[in-house]
Amino acid sequence: MKIFCYPSDVLRKPGEEVARFDDELADVARRMFETMYTASGVGLAAPQVGLSIRMCVLNAEGTPEGERVLVNPRIVERTDTVTGDEGCLSFPGIFIKVQRSARITVRYQDLTGAEQTLEADGLFARAVQHEIDHLDGVLLVDKMTRVQQMANRRALKMLELRHAGTGDAFVG
Ligand code: CO
Repeated sequence: MKIFCYPSDVLRKPGEEVARFDDELADVARRMFETMYTASGVGLAAPQVGLSIRMCVLNAEGTPEGERVLVNPRIVERTDTVTGDEGCLSFPGIFIKVQRSARITVRYQDLTGAEQTLEADGLFARAVQHEIDHLDGVLLVDKMTRVQQMANRRALKMLELRHAGTGDAFVG
C-alpha cells in the first residue's frame, strides 16, 4: 500500500462508518500493518492509504501482541492533558509538540464487528487520538501553533510542491 502525504485530498476526506466485517476488511487491516511496519510507524489510519473508512491500526509496543485494529472508534472519556512529540507518516520529517489527553477510554469494533472498550495512556493514548483525528480529516498541520507553522514552513512547502493535487504518493 502507498502512504499518501500532505496535502493529498484523501487525507481531508472524513472516513465512512464501516458496516461490513468480512475477510476483505481483515485483509485491508493486515496490509495496513505491513505498510505501517515498513514505514516504522506506530499507527496508521485508512485515509492515509487512500481508503475513506473509519479504521486504523496501531502497535505501540512493537510486539505481535501489541497489534490493535480499531474500527469505528470513538473516545468516550478523557482525562488530563499532556504535551509530547508527535510525527505523522503523511508528514515525513516533521515533528511537533502536541497537547493531547493523557488517558482515554475508547469504544470501537473489532474485525468481527464486536463492540470493544479499551483504556489507553502514554504513547498509545497519543497514537489513538492522532489516528482518530485522521478518520475525521484532521491533520498534524491543524495542530500547529503559528510558531510551529513558521518553524516548519519550508518542510510544509516542500510537501506541497511534491504532492499537491497530483494524488502522488509517498512510500515509507
Ligand atoms: Co498521522
